[in-house]
Amino acid sequence: MAVIALKCPKVQVVVVDISTPRITAWNSDQLPIYEPGLDDVVKQCKGKNLFFSTDVEKHVAEADIVFVSVNTPTKTQGLGAGKAADLTYWESAARMIADVSKSDKIVVEKSTVPVKTAEAIERILTHNNKGINFQILSNPEFLAEGTAIKDLFNPDRVLIGGRETSGGQKAIAALRDVYAQWVPIDKIICTNLWSAELSKLAANAFLAQRISSVNAMSALCEATGADVTQVSQAIGKDTRIGPKFLNASVGFGGSCFQKDILNLVYICECHGLAEVANYWKQVIKINDYQKTRFVNRIVSSMFNTVSGKKVAILGFAFKKDTGDTRETPAIDVCKGLIGDKAKISIYDPQVQEEQITRDLALKKFPMSPTSVKQVACVWDAYEATKGAHGICILTEWDEFKLLDYKRIFDGMEKPAFVFDGRNVVDAEKLRKIGFIVYAIGKPLDAWLKDMPAVA
Ligand code: UGA
Repeated sequence: MAVIALKCPKVQVVVVDISTPRITAWNSDQLPIYEPGLDDVVKQCKGKNLFFSTDVEKHVAEADIVFVSVNTPTKTQGLGAGKAADLTYWESAARMIADVSKSDKIVVEKSTVPVKTAEAIERILTHNNKGINFQILSNPEFLAEGTAIKDLFNPDRVLIGGRETSGGQKAIAALRDVYAQWVPIDKIICTNLWSAELSKLAANAFLAQRISSVNAMSALCEATGADVTQVSQAIGKDTRIGPKFLNASVGFGGSCFQKDILNLVYICECHGLAEVANYWKQVIKINDYQKTRFVNRIVSSMFNTVSGKKVAILGFAFKKDTGDTRETPAIDVCKGLIGDKAKISIYDPQVQEEQITRDLALKKFPMSPTSVKQVACVWDAYEATKGAHGICILTEWDEFKLLDYKRIFDGMEKPAFVFDGRNVVDAEKLRKIGFIVYAIGKPLDAWLKDMPAVA
């Protein structure tokens, strides 16, 4: 919304939320999320044509276009638990819009929702009996965290789905005119509602599938002595495959990939397409396998036990340049190590201790109060690694490439291990210092070869 305000000075944008602390933060100089470049955009428009308010009903009533960007988490109970999207927030937003509206509106579905949600929302809105005309559009977002501003300034495409009626086409044109103020018209794709909704799920499923494919290859590379980076480079040169999203890792995280694939799986199952559902499920299974494999490597390399040993965790966010920890692989890796009684010391440049404590204590398997004491959060990589037996790199923060690894080595117990879950360090350089290094999908150290390590 901030980028729309920046690029369309004649459009008045009001961001509304029922959470007062959140809106207060947006109205302050300290924005509530870390996203490179966002500060600058907000600063340029705030108070001019970009406003943040808790007066939800007033601003919705006044608007011509309402973007709904509420949370749609995976359902935790009831029908479709563990797979289907929880649309509670979407439904109440739709009911509120129907209640407060006095004029015709275009309602834009911006949250990623299962296919055909728009139809349900349309029903809620059109049963308002007030003679108001609502047009529903699906306008899924393709930005990635950490590069959001860059992605929004120069999107690969903007997708707008709407009804094939004249009212629907008029609504599509109105939204297209907003984006056309900075996006080349040939990059604005207009489709029917269902295609737009499904395309969002499909795009994330395809992206996640690439990562699971390369991560599956990484296991084979380790077993056979190939180097996954070389394999990625070789296959990425094929223009049909392309070079992006081929970095092997400890696993993908983030709020979208797993949730969207689970949604896709649920939709397939609901339509009796068991084979298709299983096909996509496998993308998640490989992701879980990769995280387990990583933990097993650590434990087996360190003489099959990490009990009482200090392990430094460098990076907790699900990717660099964000403080977001939703579904981060670090949660599973830390839990695996804690389960094996390691003492972990975590450093991430953007994630607060409070968040880490919440993530490690509140997941599906609540931990005992004693296990919480096994976890320390520190504000410096050198502090985290002091006296440690091993280091795990779980987020590809640039600063981890620049650390003084000789200094770190000198302060660690020996043998000193580095487990690089993001292939960010120069493994050869570290080996020369004296580290035993495990890097995802790379030829194994002689030390690791002798250890049984398969998940
Ligand atoms: C993803 C999509 O990339 C966006 O297009 C989409 O709009 C967004 O979800 C969404 O649905 O909202 P995001 O989750 O922010 O964006 O981040 P990604 O850059 O896609 O990374 C996801 C995970 O995959 C991260 O944990 C990242 O480290 C991992 N990854 C990515 C790899 O392990 N290897 C790669 O080569 C690329």
